[in-house]
Amino acid sequence: MAAAKGRRASTARPWVVRTSRRHGRGVFAIATIKAGTHIIEYTGELISEAEGERRYPTMPDGHEEPEHTYLLTLDERRVIDANVGGNEARFINHSCEPNCEPIAFGDHMWIVAVRDIKPGEELAYDYAIELDEPHTPARKKRFPCRCEATRCRGSILKPKYQPLHQLVRAAIRKYGPHA
Ligand SMILES: C[S@@+](CC[C@H](N)C(=O)[O-])C[C@H]1O[C@@H](n2cnc3c(N)ncnc32)[C@H](O)[C@@H]1O
Ligand SMILES: [Zn+2]
Repeated sequence: MAAAKGRRASTARPWVVRTSRRHGRGVFAIATIKAGTHIIEYTGELISEAEGERRYPTMPDGHEEPEHTYLLTLDERRVIDANVGGNEARFINHSCEPNCEPIAFGDHMWIVAVRDIKPGEELAYDYAIELDEPHTPARKKRFPCRCEATRCRGSILKPKYQPLHQLVRAAIRKYGPHA
């Protein structure tokens, strides 16, 4: 059956990549994105954690983590290296009060909206980085956060044992693979 004249469904992306006040480039909503929307897949090469460490090794001068990689943990064994075959999802910055969350569906990681997102808002998830070492003030300073949220932690590092934001936990239950 022919589509109704002038009523073709829009396939436009509801986001764009542009410069961010937080850091470098970021991804911004240009239309309302409803809670639960699978906004974009985080693509890249699927590799083991060990291979990730081999590619982006810990610095000999005591730096435990590379400052700026495009690695995202998929599950206990695997990470996604967006330096290889990655798309615009790699530009999504961190926020301590996130509006989206990466959720794994099998071998695929999707960035899912945890609440309605308004046009103009920067898409951001909680990187929730936890080092093996204690999060000393010096280490926190190495990962400064400029998310400007009311409850910004001041660092991208997540305090150990602090649960993820309640919106994120609710979204994982509601929209995750076991929903
Ligand atoms: C995967 S990149 C994010 C995209 C990055 N803006 C770009 O242009 O490539 C991750 C890095 O961005 C920076 N970053 C992300 N969110 C940030 C935030 N809220 N405050 C400060 N730096 C941030 C950190 O240096 C982090 O290691
Ligand atoms: Zn913050």
